Amino acid sequence: MARVINFSAGPATLPESVLRQAAEEMLDWHGSGQSVMEMSHRGKEFMSIAAQAEADLRELMAIPANYKVLFLQGGASLQFAMIPLNLLRGKASADYVNTGEWAKKAIKEAKQYCQVNVVASSEDKNFTYAPAQTGWKLSRDAAYVHYTANETIGGVEFHWVPQSGEVPLVCDMSSNILSKPVDVSKYGLIYAGAQKNIGPAGLTIAILRDDLIGQVLPKTPVMLDYKTHAENESMYNTPPTYGIYIAGLVFQWIKQNGGLAAMEKRNREKAALLYAFLDQSNFFVSPVAQADRSLMNVPFTLKKAELDEEFLKGAKSRGMIQLKGHRSVGGMRASIYNAMPVEGVKALVGYMKEFEAKHG
Ligand SMILES: Cc1ncc(COP(=O)(O)O)c(C=O)c1O
Repeated sequence: MARVINFSAGPATLPESVLRQAAEEMLDWHGSGQSVMEMSHRGKEFMSIAAQAEADLRELMAIPANYKVLFLQGGASLQFAMIPLNLLRGKASADYVNTGEWAKKAIKEAKQYCQVNVVASSEDKNFTYAPAQTGWKLSRDAAYVHYTANETIGGVEFHWVPQSGEVPLVCDMSSNILSKPVDVSKYGLIYAGAQKNIGPAGLTIAILRDDLIGQVLPKTPVMLDYKTHAENESMYNTPPTYGIYIAGLVFQWIKQNGGLAAMEKRNREKAALLYAFLDQSNFFVSPVAQADRSLMNVPFTLKKAELDEEFLKGAKSRGMIQLKGHRSVGGMRASIYNAMPVEGVKALVGYMKEFEAKHG
């Protein structure tokens, strides 16, 4: 069996040991005689899986006791609506930072429910940087401040946490959650789709401060009220059980591999290999401002765009897949989440060198 080196932005590569364990446990989880997929979500076996996953996530991220961890569905995209529905709490506006494709989607959805103040934007330079906080025009009466910690498509990451004063800070961490330690107490709400650094698609995690729960807009569907999930330990309806199980295995894998500080160290090493190569290359170009380059998603272009297809073809023949950039940006993108081994990045850089030597 040959596994590819998968640079997909999501669903993304998972730790091989996690997949092997899931395979071993597929037919008979811990002597229960059943697959996790077949278990009642209210039975003691699955309840123990969910409780362990939550406990491990709390430990990894040092989540304070006054925060709820919710296992939800609907992707990060549903959070774009759930956030204003739940967090406006009688206020008329919210502040958003516009850093690219994902921020734009969050903004568009929020506009259905409130006045959106775009307090900063990097649109002037085609979303290739994170706007410095000094230029943000925050409003004191905003219900919350929303930003996208890592723009998966543009490859722009905030390497600092914005200050929002008394106003709750809300963060889309879909593509860099668990890639480094974060101080959860600085946030009102952190949310992330699972399919990058957490596990399979279909699970969405929200980490939410207690006091923000319970003031939804009238007529909000029960399923879109954080209170529903907080009061029922994410078991109001049938949760994405298999996704929670795999996420739990990934959390254990992170713990066994040194936790978030070790993930950050490895992620920095991997990204440095790729960016160092890009910076000295006369053939490949990184479009993102140096200080704001993502450790997770590395977009790059070829100076001769007519060679894009040949580059991708050669990568594929060497077992490297999903390097094509997002259709809105073009070029290439290598997503190098936690589960991407350093050997994968070395193989990519080796191939890029070879390609440049031939075509540069
Ligand atoms: C930063 C970011 N936000 C939101 C989304 C949307 O997530 P989902 O597909 O889970 O709705 C993605 C998906 O790739 C993303 O990268």
